[in-house]
Amino acid sequence: MQENAAPITDHFGRTLKDLRISVIDKCNFRCTYCMPKEIFGDDYAFLPESELLSFEEIIRLANSFAELGVEKIRITGGEPLLRKNLDQLIAELNQIPGINDIALTTNGIFLPRKAAKLKAAGLKRVNISLDAIEDEVFTKINGKGVVVLPVLKGIEAAQNAGLKVKINMVVKKGMNDNQVLPMARYFKGKDIILRYIEFMDVGNHNGWDMKNVISKKHIIDMINEEMPIEPVDENYYGEVATRYRYKDGEGEIGVISSVTDSFCGTCTRIRLSADGKLYTCLFASSGYDVREKLREGLTEEQLTENLASLWHGRKDRYSDERTERKSKNRKKIEMSYIGG
Ligand code: GTP
Ligand code: 5AD
Ligand code: SF4
Ligand code: SF4
Repeated sequence: MQENAAPITDHFGRTLKDLRISVIDKCNFRCTYCMPKEIFGDDYAFLPESELLSFEEIIRLANSFAELGVEKIRITGGEPLLRKNLDQLIAELNQIPGINDIALTTNGIFLPRKAAKLKAAGLKRVNISLDAIEDEVFTKINGKGVVVLPVLKGIEAAQNAGLKVKINMVVKKGMNDNQVLPMARYFKGKDIILRYIEFMDVGNHNGWDMKNVISKKHIIDMINEEMPIEPVDENYYGEVATRYRYKDGEGEIGVISSVTDSFCGTCTRIRLSADGKLYTCLFASSGYDVREKLREGLTEEQLTENLASLWHGRKDRYSDERTERKSKNRKKIEMSYIGG
């Protein structure tokens, strides 16, 4: 950690550790649970390029956050690889004292072209979304008719470039619950961690209903019956996924259970949108306009003070408090805008 980095805590004593930076709100997919094409169609008002934070602005913010104790940065989108020259941003983030982990969440399609450059710039890890191993299921979910092979090629390219790979699979009843076992069978023994994500009530358009959530317990039971697993300790404080390893030594899986077993008590994350708003929760309705502040000409010291007081005042614990009524009555930011 940087010498002057002093950990800061929020209203509930949670430390700020991770910064998630969304670099673009556009995506080449239209996943039904994230950007349903009926809503995110030709008329959808994505952010114009002029609204996006410049790399210089992102770096300024990341420096301030590092001073406040942030050690880990995750780049997200939309699809972050649609942002031009992303490797240049990563190379600059990699120079910031105190930042010791830079990761990326992507759908993987552009990795064959970009993985080596990203790795050379300082990227360590990629989490790649893949919701099914059978084309018939996957083509329907991603809304673009894309088959599984290009994603597998992306995974291979990332591994060949020396990036650590995890797979994110959102599980939704009736959509892909029949893929839970085929996905486990496919990735077992391949040095890739498959993580199952409970379908969440993010955004306002995915028709979320508790009835469509396949719980962590159900997922674990299904896998354990065919391929015995046992729990493993977390890798780091506040890890989002609960980990399990195959008893035969063939690797591990994770489950992200924001709905049935929430983890707000250890939430150390802040999120920056592509247009420069800061959100202290994935389920927030409004953010803090830090782009305006940056352009007002704050000194570095004032900027860091502003960010610290934003974190100090944080009281979010949406998933701990979730109820169906609350979920339906609240207008939330879109997952594709804030990057998960
Ligand atoms: P690692 O550093 O590899 O552990 O990454 P991660 O799991 O934090 O990041 P990733 O982008 O792969 O997230 C996987 C899933 O977890 C996504 O669906 C996220 O939206 C969800 N997730 C990540 N952080 C949070 C959080 O703070 N709250 C909730 N409810 N879900 C989260
Ligand atoms: N529920 C759970 N996870 C979601 N993601 C997007 N929308 C949802 C949702 N409704 C996931 C993607 C990706 C990550 C950034 O967020 O699959 O892995
Ligand atoms: Fe799918 Fe991720 Fe794109 Fe959303 S941002 S549509 S989950 S690929
Ligand atoms: Fe953090 Fe909000 Fe997720 Fe809870 S719901 S873990 S406070 S981002």
